[in-house]
Amino acid sequence: MKGTGHSYQKKFADLSGMYADASAFDALRETRGDEVVYEVTDFKPNDRAGDLITGVTRMVPGQVGHEFFMTRGHIHAQVDRPEMYFVLRGKGVMQMESPEGKTEAMEMGLHTMCYVPPYWIHRSINVGTEELVMLFCYPADSGQNYDIIAQSGGMRHRVMARTDGAWELVDNSAYRARARDALGALMALGA
Ligand SMILES: [Fe+2]
Repeated sequence: MKGTGHSYQKKFADLSGMYADASAFDALRETRGDEVVYEVTDFKPNDRAGDLITGVTRMVPGQVGHEFFMTRGHIHAQVDRPEMYFVLRGKGVMQMESPEGKTEAMEMGLHTMCYVPPYWIHRSINVGTEELVMLFCYPADSGQNYDIIAQSGGMRHRVMARTDGAWELVDNSAYRARARDALGALMALGA
């Protein structure tokens, strides 16, 4: 993506604590810790509510144990801002979670568009065998809150590989539902 002003990269070692199988993560970190596992490049004209950030994310394929490689995930700091993703290459899952803990996982093949509604936490997962490349677009004042996932012990479900190679949602045993007062405070941010 040319003509942009901003990009960031995540190395495998940066994703410590996200995956269920900590020993598999540690073993992979030994050999692939410095490898860039996803990269985001975007064009941000300004940070006004009426403008748009447009960009491309690229994710390498892989698994930690039986869990597919994924992004850290976030809710928008302005919680009522939506997002659009469109697959340019590969096969992914957009895992979305409402603040109340409802999960929607949308499989995305080539040229699939996914709409992430306002208030929904979202994370991209590469469930294919090649690079996953997606175009995205969201309001320029959205911002990102990454802590919301760590505060609940991860997202409610994990996207895991079945023995036949397909993906499935598995309960995350470390997940803690958001308390009513925390939920109220979060929703008030978008009021
Ligand atoms: Fe987002």
